[in-house]
Amino acid sequence: MPGSETTAARRVVDLITGTWRARALYAAVSLSLPDHIAAGHGTVPALSERTGAGEDGLVRLLRLLVALGVITGDEEEGYGLTEVGALLVADGERSMRDMVLLYGEEFHRAWGAVVPAVRTGTSGFEHAFGMSLHTYLRDDPEAGPRFLRAMNAGNVFFPEAALAFDFTGAHTVIDVAGGSGLLLSAVLQAHPHLSGTVFDLPHMLPVAERHLSAVVDVHRYETVAGDVFDKVPAGNDVYLLSRVLQDWDDERCVTLLANIREAMADGGRLLVLERVVVTDDTAPLLPLLWDLHLLMAAGGRERTLDGYRSLLHAAGLRLESVHSLALETSLLVAAPM
Ligand SMILES: C[S@@+](CC[C@H](N)C(=O)[O-])C[C@H]1O[C@@H](n2cnc3c(N)ncnc32)[C@H](O)[C@@H]1O
Repeated sequence: MPGSETTAARRVVDLITGTWRARALYAAVSLSLPDHIAAGHGTVPALSERTGAGEDGLVRLLRLLVALGVITGDEEEGYGLTEVGALLVADGERSMRDMVLLYGEEFHRAWGAVVPAVRTGTSGFEHAFGMSLHTYLRDDPEAGPRFLRAMNAGNVFFPEAALAFDFTGAHTVIDVAGGSGLLLSAVLQAHPHLSGTVFDLPHMLPVAERHLSAVVDVHRYETVAGDVFDKVPAGNDVYLLSRVLQDWDDERCVTLLANIREAMADGGRLLVLERVVVTDDTAPLLPLLWDLHLLMAAGGRERTLDGYRSLLHAAGLRLESVHSLALETSLLVAAPM
Protein backbone atom coordinates (compact mmCIF):
# COMPACT_ATOMS: atom_id res chain seq x y z
CA MET A 1 0.00 0.00 0.00
CA PRO A 2 1.48 3.36 -0.94
CA GLY A 3 1.81 5.77 1.99
CA SER A 4 -0.18 8.97 1.96
CA GLU A 5 2.95 10.97 1.14
CA THR A 6 3.55 8.84 -1.98
CA THR A 7 -0.07 9.22 -3.00
CA ALA A 8 0.16 12.98 -2.50
CA ALA A 9 3.40 13.13 -4.51
CA ARG A 10 1.72 11.14 -7.29
CA ARG A 11 -1.13 13.64 -7.26
CA VAL A 12 1.33 16.53 -7.67
CA VAL A 13 2.97 14.77 -10.63
CA ASP A 14 -0.45 14.14 -12.21
CA LEU A 15 -1.29 17.82 -11.83
CA ILE A 16 2.05 18.99 -13.25
CA THR A 17 1.72 16.76 -16.30
CA GLY A 18 -1.87 17.84 -16.98
CA THR A 19 -0.81 20.43 -19.57
CA TRP A 20 1.25 17.84 -21.45
CA ARG A 21 -1.93 15.94 -22.35
CA ALA A 22 -3.41 19.10 -23.80
CA ARG A 23 -0.18 19.83 -25.68
CA ALA A 24 -0.08 16.30 -27.13
CA LEU A 25 -3.67 16.70 -28.33
CA TYR A 26 -2.79 20.09 -29.80
CA ALA A 27 0.21 18.59 -31.64
CA ALA A 28 -1.98 15.80 -33.05
CA VAL A 29 -4.59 18.26 -34.33
CA SER A 30 -2.01 20.73 -35.57
CA LEU A 31 -0.38 17.95 -37.62
CA SER A 32 -3.88 16.87 -38.79
CA LEU A 33 -3.20 13.32 -37.60
CA PRO A 34 -6.94 12.59 -37.08
CA ASP A 35 -7.64 13.68 -40.69
CA HIS A 36 -4.86 11.53 -42.15
CA ILE A 37 -5.91 8.53 -40.06
CA ALA A 38 -9.57 9.02 -41.08
CA ALA A 39 -8.43 9.08 -44.73
CA GLY A 40 -6.81 5.64 -44.27
CA HIS A 41 -3.18 6.79 -43.83
CA GLY A 42 -2.78 5.34 -40.33
CA THR A 43 0.70 3.79 -40.53
CA VAL A 44 3.76 5.57 -39.17
CA PRO A 45 5.49 5.91 -42.60
CA ALA A 46 2.28 7.23 -44.18
CA LEU A 47 1.74 9.74 -41.36
CA SER A 48 5.38 10.78 -41.52
CA GLU A 49 5.14 11.37 -45.26
CA ARG A 50 1.94 13.39 -44.98
CA THR A 51 2.93 15.55 -42.00
CA GLY A 52 6.66 15.92 -42.67
CA ALA A 53 7.26 14.81 -39.06
CA GLY A 54 10.08 12.40 -38.16
CA GLU A 55 9.02 8.81 -37.40
CA ASP A 56 10.60 8.71 -33.94
CA GLY A 57 8.69 11.74 -32.64
CA LEU A 58 5.50 10.51 -34.31
CA VAL A 59 5.70 7.04 -32.72
CA ARG A 60 6.10 8.59 -29.29
CA LEU A 61 3.21 11.01 -29.82
CA LEU A 62 0.99 8.27 -31.27
CA ARG A 63 1.51 5.86 -28.37
CA LEU A 64 0.63 8.61 -25.90
CA LEU A 65 -2.52 9.36 -27.92
CA VAL A 66 -3.44 5.66 -27.67
CA ALA A 67 -3.03 5.82 -23.88
CA LEU A 68 -5.18 8.97 -23.80
CA GLY A 69 -7.97 7.20 -25.72
CA VAL A 70 -7.75 9.41 -28.82
CA ILE A 71 -6.63 6.67 -31.22
CA THR A 72 -6.32 2.88 -31.19
CA GLY A 73 -3.75 0.52 -32.70
CA ASP A 74 0.03 0.23 -32.66
CA GLU A 75 3.17 0.83 -34.67
CA GLU A 76 2.99 -2.54 -36.47
CA GLU A 77 -0.69 -2.55 -37.42
CA GLY A 78 -1.23 1.19 -37.85
CA TYR A 79 -3.73 3.42 -36.10
CA GLY A 80 -7.48 4.10 -36.15
CA LEU A 81 -9.63 6.76 -34.50
CA THR A 82 -11.65 6.26 -31.34
CA GLU A 83 -14.90 8.18 -30.81
CA VAL A 84 -12.77 10.91 -29.21
CA GLY A 85 -10.38 11.06 -32.17
CA ALA A 86 -13.31 11.21 -34.61
CA LEU A 87 -14.36 14.53 -33.01
CA LEU A 88 -11.01 16.02 -34.06
CA VAL A 89 -11.36 15.51 -37.80
CA ALA A 90 -11.77 18.80 -39.70
CA ASP A 91 -15.31 19.36 -41.01
CA GLY A 92 -16.53 16.24 -39.22
CA GLU A 93 -19.97 16.58 -37.73
CA ARG A 94 -19.55 18.37 -34.38
CA SER A 95 -15.80 18.71 -35.02
CA MET A 96 -13.86 20.04 -32.03
CA ARG A 97 -10.71 20.68 -34.08
CA ASP A 98 -11.02 24.49 -33.99
CA MET A 99 -11.53 24.38 -30.24
CA VAL A 100 -8.30 22.39 -29.79
CA LEU A 101 -6.42 24.88 -32.01
CA LEU A 102 -7.77 27.99 -30.25
CA TYR A 103 -7.04 26.55 -26.81
CA GLY A 104 -3.62 25.33 -27.96
CA GLU A 105 -2.63 28.66 -29.52
CA GLU A 106 -4.20 31.93 -28.31
CA PHE A 107 -5.53 30.60 -25.01
CA HIS A 108 -2.34 28.67 -24.28
CA ARG A 109 -0.42 31.93 -24.71
CA ALA A 110 -2.93 33.72 -22.45
CA TRP A 111 -2.53 31.01 -19.77
CA GLY A 112 1.23 31.62 -19.97
CA ALA A 113 0.45 34.88 -18.17
CA VAL A 114 -1.49 33.15 -15.36
CA VAL A 115 0.71 34.57 -12.59
CA PRO A 116 0.45 38.26 -13.59
CA ALA A 117 -3.28 37.73 -14.37
CA VAL A 118 -3.98 36.32 -10.90
CA ARG A 119 -1.80 39.02 -9.32
CA THR A 120 -3.42 41.97 -11.10
CA GLY A 121 -6.88 40.76 -12.16
CA THR A 122 -6.09 41.90 -15.73
CA SER A 123 -6.72 39.12 -18.25
CA GLY A 124 -3.89 36.78 -19.21
CA PHE A 125 -4.80 37.57 -22.82
CA GLU A 126 -4.08 41.26 -22.30
CA HIS A 127 -0.75 40.50 -20.62
CA ALA A 128 0.25 38.17 -23.46
CA PHE A 129 -1.13 40.01 -26.51
CA GLY A 130 -1.13 43.65 -25.36
CA MET A 131 -4.85 43.96 -26.17
CA SER A 132 -8.14 42.56 -24.90
CA LEU A 133 -9.70 39.46 -26.45
CA HIS A 134 -12.62 41.63 -27.62
CA THR A 135 -10.27 44.01 -29.50
CA TYR A 136 -8.38 41.06 -30.96
CA LEU A 137 -11.60 39.46 -32.21
CA ARG A 138 -12.88 42.74 -33.61
CA ASP A 139 -9.66 43.73 -35.40
CA ASP A 140 -8.58 40.41 -36.88
CA PRO A 141 -11.09 39.38 -39.58
CA GLU A 142 -10.01 35.73 -39.35
CA ALA A 143 -10.18 35.51 -35.56
CA GLY A 144 -13.91 36.22 -34.95
CA PRO A 145 -15.30 33.38 -37.10
CA ARG A 146 -12.55 31.02 -35.90
CA PHE A 147 -13.46 31.83 -32.29
CA LEU A 148 -17.12 31.14 -33.05
CA ARG A 149 -16.30 27.82 -34.69
CA ALA A 150 -14.32 26.90 -31.57
CA MET A 151 -17.21 27.93 -29.30
CA ASN A 152 -19.59 25.86 -31.41
CA ALA A 153 -17.78 22.72 -30.33
CA GLY A 154 -18.98 23.43 -26.79
CA ASN A 155 -22.59 23.91 -27.89
CA VAL A 156 -23.78 20.45 -26.95
CA PHE A 157 -26.30 21.89 -24.49
CA PHE A 158 -28.19 24.02 -27.07
CA PRO A 159 -30.81 21.40 -28.09
CA GLU A 160 -31.37 20.61 -24.40
CA ALA A 161 -31.74 24.31 -23.59
CA ALA A 162 -34.38 24.62 -26.31
CA LEU A 163 -36.46 21.97 -24.52
CA ALA A 164 -35.82 23.02 -20.91
CA PHE A 165 -38.18 26.00 -21.08
CA ASP A 166 -41.87 26.04 -22.01
CA PHE A 167 -42.09 28.26 -25.11
CA THR A 168 -45.80 27.46 -25.70
CA GLY A 169 -47.13 30.93 -24.90
CA ALA A 170 -44.33 32.81 -26.69
CA HIS A 171 -44.28 34.09 -30.28
CA THR A 172 -40.92 35.84 -30.59
CA VAL A 173 -37.50 35.12 -29.18
CA ILE A 174 -34.28 37.14 -29.44
CA ASP A 175 -30.79 35.81 -28.80
CA VAL A 176 -28.88 38.74 -27.31
CA ALA A 177 -25.18 38.62 -28.30
CA GLY A 178 -26.25 35.42 -30.04
CA GLY A 179 -22.98 34.94 -31.94
CA SER A 180 -23.20 31.94 -34.26
CA GLY A 181 -27.02 31.84 -34.32
CA LEU A 182 -26.87 28.15 -33.42
CA LEU A 183 -28.78 28.52 -30.15
CA LEU A 184 -31.56 30.39 -31.95
CA SER A 185 -31.49 27.73 -34.70
CA ALA A 186 -31.97 25.01 -32.06
CA VAL A 187 -34.86 26.92 -30.44
CA LEU A 188 -36.60 27.66 -33.76
CA GLN A 189 -36.17 24.07 -34.94
CA ALA A 190 -37.64 22.70 -31.71
CA HIS A 191 -40.58 25.17 -31.72
CA PRO A 192 -41.98 25.72 -35.22
CA HIS A 193 -44.48 28.36 -34.01
CA LEU A 194 -41.69 30.78 -32.97
CA SER A 195 -39.84 33.41 -34.96
CA GLY A 196 -36.58 34.89 -33.77
CA THR A 197 -33.77 37.44 -33.95
CA VAL A 198 -30.02 37.22 -33.47
CA PHE A 199 -28.69 40.48 -32.04
CA ASP A 200 -24.91 40.95 -32.07
CA LEU A 201 -22.07 43.16 -33.27
CA PRO A 202 -22.14 43.63 -37.08
CA HIS A 203 -19.09 41.48 -37.83
CA MET A 204 -20.76 38.43 -36.24
CA LEU A 205 -24.00 38.53 -38.22
CA PRO A 206 -22.85 36.84 -41.48
CA VAL A 207 -21.99 33.68 -39.50
CA ALA A 208 -25.41 33.71 -37.80
CA GLU A 209 -27.11 34.24 -41.18
CA ARG A 210 -25.28 31.28 -42.63
CA HIS A 211 -26.22 28.94 -39.79
CA LEU A 212 -29.84 30.05 -39.55
CA SER A 213 -30.50 29.99 -43.29
CA ALA A 214 -29.27 26.40 -43.47
CA VAL A 215 -31.99 25.07 -41.16
CA VAL A 216 -34.77 27.66 -40.71
CA ASP A 217 -37.17 29.26 -43.20
CA VAL A 218 -35.97 32.78 -44.05
CA HIS A 219 -39.31 34.30 -42.94
CA ARG A 220 -38.83 33.04 -39.39
CA TYR A 221 -35.67 34.91 -38.44
CA GLU A 222 -33.73 38.14 -38.80
CA THR A 223 -30.32 39.36 -37.72
CA VAL A 224 -29.93 42.79 -36.15
CA ALA A 225 -26.67 44.64 -35.49
CA GLY A 226 -26.23 46.61 -32.29
CA ASP A 227 -24.47 47.06 -28.99
CA VAL A 228 -25.91 45.44 -25.84
CA PHE A 229 -24.44 48.23 -23.73
CA ASP A 230 -26.40 50.77 -25.71
CA LYS A 231 -29.88 49.36 -26.44
CA VAL A 232 -31.52 45.97 -26.94
CA PRO A 233 -34.46 45.50 -29.37
CA ALA A 234 -37.82 45.67 -27.57
CA GLY A 235 -41.00 43.66 -27.94
CA ASN A 236 -39.83 40.03 -27.80
CA ASP A 237 -41.45 37.45 -25.54
CA VAL A 238 -38.26 35.58 -24.65
CA TYR A 239 -34.72 36.97 -24.37
CA LEU A 240 -31.81 34.51 -24.55
CA LEU A 241 -28.41 35.39 -23.09
CA SER A 242 -25.93 32.56 -23.54
CA ARG A 243 -22.32 32.73 -22.32
CA VAL A 244 -22.31 36.52 -22.30
CA LEU A 245 -22.31 37.48 -18.59
CA GLN A 246 -19.18 35.32 -18.27
CA ASP A 247 -17.19 37.88 -20.29
CA TRP A 248 -17.95 41.00 -18.24
CA ASP A 249 -17.48 42.51 -14.78
CA ASP A 250 -20.48 43.06 -12.52
CA GLU A 251 -21.00 46.66 -13.54
CA ARG A 252 -21.10 45.88 -17.28
CA CYS A 253 -23.38 42.88 -16.61
CA VAL A 254 -25.87 45.04 -14.74
CA THR A 255 -25.83 47.60 -17.59
CA LEU A 256 -26.59 44.98 -20.23
CA LEU A 257 -29.16 43.18 -18.07
CA ALA A 258 -30.92 46.50 -17.36
CA ASN A 259 -31.05 47.14 -21.13
CA ILE A 260 -32.68 43.74 -21.60
CA ARG A 261 -35.12 44.43 -18.76
CA GLU A 262 -36.04 47.73 -20.39
CA ALA A 263 -36.67 45.97 -23.71
CA MET A 264 -38.83 43.22 -22.12
CA ALA A 265 -42.58 43.34 -21.63
CA ASP A 266 -43.68 42.65 -18.03
CA GLY A 267 -44.75 39.13 -19.00
CA GLY A 268 -41.45 38.39 -20.79
CA ARG A 269 -38.72 36.01 -19.68
CA LEU A 270 -34.94 36.09 -19.83
CA LEU A 271 -33.12 32.75 -20.21
CA VAL A 272 -29.49 32.92 -19.09
CA LEU A 273 -27.09 30.09 -19.99
CA GLU A 274 -23.95 30.01 -17.84
CA ARG A 275 -21.91 27.74 -15.60
CA VAL A 276 -22.67 28.09 -11.90
CA VAL A 277 -19.72 27.93 -9.51
CA VAL A 278 -20.25 25.82 -6.39
CA THR A 279 -17.79 26.54 -3.60
CA ASP A 280 -18.26 23.57 -1.23
CA ASP A 281 -16.27 20.32 -1.44
CA THR A 282 -18.84 18.75 -3.81
CA ALA A 283 -17.94 21.39 -6.41
CA PRO A 284 -17.67 19.99 -9.95
CA LEU A 285 -14.28 20.91 -11.44
CA LEU A 286 -15.37 22.21 -14.85
CA PRO A 287 -17.02 25.50 -13.71
CA LEU A 288 -13.99 26.22 -11.51
CA LEU A 289 -11.55 25.54 -14.38
CA TRP A 290 -13.66 27.66 -16.69
CA ASP A 291 -13.83 30.45 -14.13
CA LEU A 292 -10.03 30.76 -14.08
CA HIS A 293 -9.93 30.33 -17.86
CA LEU A 294 -12.27 33.32 -18.20
CA LEU A 295 -9.77 35.40 -16.23
CA MET A 296 -7.10 34.28 -18.72
CA ALA A 297 -9.30 34.89 -21.81
CA ALA A 298 -11.72 37.82 -21.64
CA GLY A 299 -11.01 38.87 -18.06
CA GLY A 300 -14.48 37.57 -17.14
CA ARG A 301 -15.77 35.10 -14.57
CA GLU A 302 -18.25 32.35 -13.74
CA ARG A 303 -20.46 33.21 -10.77
CA THR A 304 -22.21 31.45 -7.91
CA LEU A 305 -26.00 31.24 -7.99
CA ASP A 306 -26.12 34.11 -5.50
CA GLY A 307 -23.81 36.07 -7.79
CA TYR A 308 -26.22 35.67 -10.75
CA ARG A 309 -29.20 36.38 -8.49
CA SER A 310 -27.78 39.69 -7.32
CA LEU A 311 -26.81 40.82 -10.85
CA LEU A 312 -30.36 40.09 -12.00
CA HIS A 313 -31.82 41.83 -8.97
CA ALA A 314 -29.74 44.97 -9.60
CA ALA A 315 -31.22 45.08 -13.13
CA GLY A 316 -34.86 44.72 -11.99
CA LEU A 317 -35.11 40.96 -12.62
CA ARG A 318 -35.72 38.02 -10.30
CA LEU A 319 -34.38 34.49 -10.64
CA GLU A 320 -37.39 32.22 -11.15
CA SER A 321 -35.90 28.76 -11.75
CA VAL A 322 -32.66 26.90 -12.52
CA HIS A 323 -32.25 23.87 -14.81
CA SER A 324 -29.11 21.72 -15.22
CA LEU A 325 -27.85 21.05 -18.75
CA ALA A 326 -24.93 19.12 -20.28
CA LEU A 327 -21.29 20.08 -19.62
CA GLU A 328 -22.27 21.48 -16.21
CA THR A 329 -24.07 24.41 -17.81
CA SER A 330 -27.22 25.83 -16.20
CA LEU A 331 -30.30 27.52 -17.61
CA LEU A 332 -31.44 30.34 -15.33
CA VAL A 333 -34.94 31.65 -15.97
CA ALA A 334 -35.49 35.28 -14.90
CA ALA A 335 -38.65 37.37 -14.81
CA PRO A 336 -39.23 41.11 -14.34
CA MET A 337 -39.64 42.06 -10.66
C1 LIG B 1 -18.79 34.31 -25.75
S1 LIG B 1 -19.69 34.77 -27.16
C2 LIG B 1 -21.27 33.97 -26.93
C3 LIG B 1 -22.01 33.79 -28.20
C4 LIG B 1 -23.31 33.00 -28.08
N1 LIG B 1 -24.27 33.66 -27.23
C5 LIG B 1 -23.03 31.57 -27.64
O1 LIG B 1 -23.37 31.16 -26.52
O2 LIG B 1 -22.45 30.83 -28.46
C6 LIG B 1 -20.02 36.44 -26.78
C7 LIG B 1 -20.80 37.15 -27.86
O3 LIG B 1 -21.01 38.52 -27.43
C8 LIG B 1 -20.95 39.35 -28.55
N2 LIG B 1 -20.71 40.72 -28.10
C9 LIG B 1 -19.61 41.19 -27.48
N3 LIG B 1 -19.75 42.50 -27.19
C10 LIG B 1 -20.98 42.85 -27.65
C11 LIG B 1 -21.71 44.07 -27.66
N4 LIG B 1 -21.19 45.17 -27.13
N5 LIG B 1 -22.95 44.08 -28.20
C12 LIG B 1 -23.48 42.96 -28.77
N6 LIG B 1 -22.83 41.76 -28.77
C13 LIG B 1 -21.60 41.71 -28.22
C14 LIG B 1 -19.80 38.76 -29.32
O4 LIG B 1 -19.77 39.23 -30.67
C15 LIG B 1 -20.08 37.26 -29.19
O5 LIG B 1 -20.91 36.80 -30.22
